[in-house]
Amino acid sequence: METLCDPFGRQIRYLRISVTDRCNLRCLYCLPEGGVRWLPREEILRFEEILEVVRVGASLGLTRVRLTGGEPLVREGLVDFVQMLRAIPQLADLSLTTNGMFLARYATALARAGLTRVNISLDTLKPERFHAITRFGAIEDVQAGIDAALDAGLHPVKLNVVVMRGINDDEIVELGRLAFDRPLHVRFIELMPIGEYFSRERLVPSEEILARLSALGRLQPTETPMGCGPARAYAWPGARGSVGIIGAVTQAFCAQCNRLRLTATGQLRPCLDDESAVDLLPALRPVVDHERLAQLIRDAVAAKPEQHTMARREAGRPRLCMAGVGG
Ligand code: 5AD
Ligand code: SF4
Repeated sequence: METLCDPFGRQIRYLRISVTDRCNLRCLYCLPEGGVRWLPREEILRFEEILEVVRVGASLGLTRVRLTGGEPLVREGLVDFVQMLRAIPQLADLSLTTNGMFLARYATALARAGLTRVNISLDTLKPERFHAITRFGAIEDVQAGIDAALDAGLHPVKLNVVVMRGINDDEIVELGRLAFDRPLHVRFIELMPIGEYFSRERLVPSEEILARLSALGRLQPTETPMGCGPARAYAWPGARGSVGIIGAVTQAFCAQCNRLRLTATGQLRPCLDDESAVDLLPALRPVVDHERLAQLIRDAVAAKPEQHTMARREAGRPRLCMAGVGG
């Protein structure tokens, strides 16, 4: 089988797909308070179009797909779309990144449709703080979503915590403790310089996060659940889950990067931090051209930069149209 190998020897197997730019929340670090203008529907790829991209990508060597947004569960028909993706034989891993608000409603159906696993955002355990960070959310909905994901057998269930100094860094230990009693994998993500919210002062470096977690007991390095993600994983002896630290800014994971990103409008982005993209639309509309699609995917792989430049940036650069940059 063909493989996709970039100029730096990295094999690209993972496609992260934004199925919508829309979201029912407006997290501080992701969207501005006044919101953004949602894209007109006709600019968003239809599920059939995304399927064509994934089918061609799979024939070139992609084996893993993650669905993200915005919030993927606000897009109608997502469960059916998961089922269609599941029918692509090369795909071994089909995951979802969600804010969890609607997950209680969909977890069982998603698991039946063939979703393997799920990442859920949870930056705090305090209801009022949760509302303040997400500007709209109710933490009870997310907690019910986490329960439903575990009950539905989605595995592993990972929680994403974006750490912000002065906002939720006092909860690192309490959030880490969630990994003790249930098979949850709590991942602490450094705040990335994307959007207006970022400042150097708000960034808590991964070494500091690790030091705080160590207060709960000696952490031992362990395998990343469902391997080769950007997190460094650790576990406490006897704990049912694990913790992970994603040093997105201070400890760039670029050397292990195995992914491409497809925006909701059909732009294939070689790097999460790079606005340059390969436009797939000419190969999708008005008619699908599989050969051309394959070539554009190879072009995006060839355009992958060796490293992102987030460590050097003092301010957030303008937010791109695709939210959900973390997982
Ligand atoms: N920095 C770090 N992580 C972010 N996410 C969104 N914006 C940022 C940012 N500026 C993460 C959230 C969510 C995932 C989709 O992306 O944790 O879980
Ligand atoms: Fe929505 Fe996720 Fe962005 Fe929060 S981080 S506003 S949940 S897309």
